[in-house]
Amino acid sequence: MKTAVENKETLLKRLDGLRQIPTIPSVLAPLLRYLQQPVEQLDVQKVTDMIAQDKSLAAQCLQMANSPLFGRWQKAESLRGAVIGLGFHRVGDIAMSCGVLNMLPKGSGGMDPVVFWEHSLGCALVSRHFARKISFADPGKAYLAGLLHDLGIIVNLWVMPQEFRAAFELAKSEGIPLHEAEERVLGFTHCESGRLLAERWELAPDLIEVVSLHHSPQESLNYGGLVALVKLSDLLCRMSGLNYGYVEAREVNLRQEAGFATLAAECPALNEFDWARLTFELDSYMDEVHSLVHAIYRT
Ligand SMILES: [Fe+2]
Ligand SMILES: [Fe+2]
Repeated sequence: MKTAVENKETLLKRLDGLRQIPTIPSVLAPLLRYLQQPVEQLDVQKVTDMIAQDKSLAAQCLQMANSPLFGRWQKAESLRGAVIGLGFHRVGDIAMSCGVLNMLPKGSGGMDPVVFWEHSLGCALVSRHFARKISFADPGKAYLAGLLHDLGIIVNLWVMPQEFRAAFELAKSEGIPLHEAEERVLGFTHCESGRLLAERWELAPDLIEVVSLHHSPQESLNYGGLVALVKLSDLLCRMSGLNYGYVEAREVNLRQEAGFATLAAECPALNEFDWARLTFELDSYMDEVHSLVHAIYRT
């Protein structure tokens, strides 16, 4: 097997080669651009038509829109109904979720794609829920940041599936965080490879920071609150049934985690936060996330 330094060079070379780089799904870029306009200028049919161009994406979106996780109280029979019932931005979040997660290569790298979906979607939902609870300024952004935080895992699965498999097996067998195993086996982590793709996709600067610094929030210069929020949500997911398919062997005290103080300074409600209640609420999410992801993955 190659050394860590060689792996890093290979990663950069393969990323530069562009051939194997996942591109942002073609339906999503124009949709997300369109949704940035003021709400009064948006058109229900136009959004519906844009998503409907990709039949399987449309079917997945409808399934997700009808999940209790997205607050539906009445079943949407059509994509148009979902856009009307849930609103433009929530449908945008759903389309982004399905589109990005569909980029995962199937059956390589040792990580079960269903598990990765569950972790990413779980982290998106937990980030949004947590953001609302502590009055974080932008819960919608928290959702997107939670969804995309592990973008680098997708990159690693594409560009070096065998090496990533070795890192994943090491993490699993020793019960250590995945990024520590990647550092040992690959010489870089999904934070670095994720940053390369996030920059190439021209994601917003706050999302780029989340992708590249969610395992070292103390290094965040401009978006410390958002990065810390996603880091804590990611930890909550990894400590629960929304992990990467294995349980990490360690005790976590969230209050002592890097980034906690930064987030508390931005959201004072965090100091009085009822963690036991949040854990209880997350338990009810978990079953929904599992059944939703299994249903969508078969679509
Ligand atoms: Fe991560
Ligand atoms: Fe994660």
